Amino acid sequence: MVRILGISGSLRRGSHNASLLRAAAKLLPSGVELEIYDGVRELPPYDPDLDGDAAPVAVVRLRAAIAAADGVLIATPEYNGSIPGVLKNALDWASRPFPDNALRGKPVAVVGASTGLFGAVWAQAETRKVLGVVGADVIEHELPVGQADTAFAADGALVADEQRAVLAELVGVLVARAGASQQQAVPAGTA
Ligand code: FNR
Repeated sequence: MVRILGISGSLRRGSHNASLLRAAAKLLPSGVELEIYDGVRELPPYDPDLDGDAAPVAVVRLRAAIAAADGVLIATPEYNGSIPGVLKNALDWASRPFPDNALRGKPVAVVGASTGLFGAVWAQAETRKVLGVVGADVIEHELPVGQADTAFAADGALVADEQRAVLAELVGVLVARAGASQQQAVPAGTA
C-alpha cells in the first residue's frame, strides 16, 4: 500500500482546498490511499523553546504522520499573495530537526484553489520554494484552480476537463515517486 498524506492550508469549514484533496483522492489508482491530515489547527505557533525532545503532542503527531507517509499532497489557498500562516507554521514544525526532518527526501506535490482568477499560483510557488529549502523531493507541477466557488461538481470532481487532466497527471507523478521511495525504504532482503 502506498500512503499519501493530504494537508490543506485552509482551516475553513467547506474549504475549496479540502475539496481539491478529495478530488485528488478520487483519481488514485488501487493500492494507494490518501489520508487527509486533521491536526493542523492544533499546532502552536512555531517556537524553538517548545521544540526538542519534548515537542508538543500536536507536533509529534504531525512529524509522525509525514514520516509514515510515502508522499505528501498539499492543497493551499493564497492569503495576500502568499502561503497561509497556518500552513507555513506546519511546514516550519515539520522542518525540524533539520538534518533528518520528516520531509527530507519525501515526494511532495502542491496544488491550490482560490476564489480569485489565478488559483493561488503564488502560494503554490512559495510552498514549493519552502519545501525545496526543507529538503523535500518537490514535484514541479502546479494546479491553479481559480474561481473555486464554481470549480467542483456535485460529485466532488473538478468540472473543467483540463484541470482534471492536470490533477491526474500530478497525482500520477506523486504516486510514482512515492512508490519508488517506499521501495528504497524497504531494508535489503525483506522485500
Ligand atoms: C484571501 N483570498 C485570496 N485569493 C487569492 O486568489 N489571492 C489572495 O491573495 C487572497 N488573499 C486572501 C487573504 C485572506 C486573509 C483570505 C481569508 C482570503 C481568497 C481565498 O482564495 C478564498 O478565501 C479561498 O476560498 C480560500 O481557500 P479555502 O478556504 O476555500 O480552501
